[in-house]
Amino acid sequence: MSSIASTSLFMAILSLALLVLFTGSTSAQLSSPDFYSKSCPNLFPTVKSKVQSAIATETRMGASLLRLFFHDCFVNGCDGSVLLDDTSNFVGEKSANANRNSARGFDVVDDIKSAVESVCPGVVSCADILAITARDSVTILGGPSWDVKLGRRDAKTTSKAAADNGIPQQSFNLSSLLSRFNALGLSNTDLVVLSGAHTIGLARCTSFRPHIYNESNIDSSFARTRQSNCPSTNGTGDNNLAPLDLQTPTAFDNKYFQNLVQKKGLLHSDQELFNNGSVDSIVQSYLNSQTSFFSDFASAMVKMGDISPLTGSSNGEIRKNCRRAN
Ligand code: HEM
Ligand SMILES: *[C@@H]1O[C@H](CO)[C@@H](O)[C@H](O)[C@H]1NC(C)=O
Ligand SMILES: *[C@@H]1O[C@H](CO)[C@@H](O)[C@H](O)[C@H]1NC(C)=O
Ligand SMILES: *[C@@H]1O[C@H](CO)[C@@H](O)[C@H](O)[C@H]1NC(C)=O
Ligand SMILES: *[C@@H]1O[C@H](CO)[C@@H](O)[C@H](O)[C@H]1NC(C)=O
Repeated sequence: MSSIASTSLFMAILSLALLVLFTGSTSAQLSSPDFYSKSCPNLFPTVKSKVQSAIATETRMGASLLRLFFHDCFVNGCDGSVLLDDTSNFVGEKSANANRNSARGFDVVDDIKSAVESVCPGVVSCADILAITARDSVTILGGPSWDVKLGRRDAKTTSKAAADNGIPQQSFNLSSLLSRFNALGLSNTDLVVLSGAHTIGLARCTSFRPHIYNESNIDSSFARTRQSNCPSTNGTGDNNLAPLDLQTPTAFDNKYFQNLVQKKGLLHSDQELFNNGSVDSIVQSYLNSQTSFFSDFASAMVKMGDISPLTGSSNGEIRKNCRRAN
């Protein structure tokens, strides 16, 4: 072989190797917010106006939409799987313990998806719509904003078991909460800061009954107040609601952390974050600075949104209807 031929052979192999390396790495990563800037230029305003009107109709919806994104990302990554209805082939996540009689906002997501489909059909994934919707909800309720990375594709299947094993439970102690978050690449700080999402929204009596009746790390007058609308017996009043943040339940602020320090966390898992344990100082830092809460919350949401997305052209799909695979 001439030296020119062997050089060009070498160059060809090198560029092939680089190509494989390059596409291999990008197929596992999300892109910047402008992923749809050509294919769906009006995506952001379309989603935002829908989220705005849903929250104007019912303030709690902002909380419900934020929680949907969390539940999506903690089960097989952020792939829109939480939105799938059951089929004859699988029982989905909506029946899982953490979601049954609890997860809400599916109709609003359908409505947002329809609006997006009408401006750019078949282009934007349900997983990305959830990510944008969560950000808009937080911002509209007074919290921070952030650039949402995009390019996720939608799962075609899921399972109830995956959700039962993936979503942390309110009965977990601190070490179980930490290991669930750490297993997904989220840090101890991420656990605390993301739990700050409980600055908005409501919980059912069944979720906080053991904490308000049977635990000692709770302010006694707060416990009595919550007991008044949550009977001690299982079955009665299970669905009675109470705000997760007793001070400002519809505003995204750092009052949640003040509650924890005063032993007024509603859920067992909330109070675990300030119970003479290793993350007490992180709670204290967000109580001292809403600015650092906001900036860390924004970064942690981006990090959570990065949990094993489906990307590239052959993984997953762009669902037409968020409730079912195409
Ligand atoms: C750390 C582990 C977590 C546990 C154990 C937990 C548990 C819960 C429980 C039990 C409820 C009440 C559900 C009901 O009674 O119907 C709830 C509500 C909520 N959670 Fe969490 N959660 C956790 C983390 C998060 C994270 C990371 C986010 C978002 C970033 C989040 C956002 C919300 C919101 C916004 C609500 C209120 C939803 C509504 O009003 O519809 N949670 N959570
Ligand atoms: C936390 O819960 C796990 C699982 O139930 C248990 O094995 C562990 O001993 C508990 N840790 C503490 C510190 O209570
Ligand atoms: C409180 O604990 C007792 C004893 O373990 C148990 O029988 C009861 O069901 C618990 N009550 C609540 C509301 O968790
Ligand atoms: C009441 O419900 C809780 C939560 O669902 C459960 O852990 C507990 O065992 C139940 N207690 C009784 C006495 O049935
Ligand atoms: C922590 O420890 C102190 C001193 O032992 C105690 O007074 C307090 O109730 C404990 N729990 C919390 C949540 O601070």
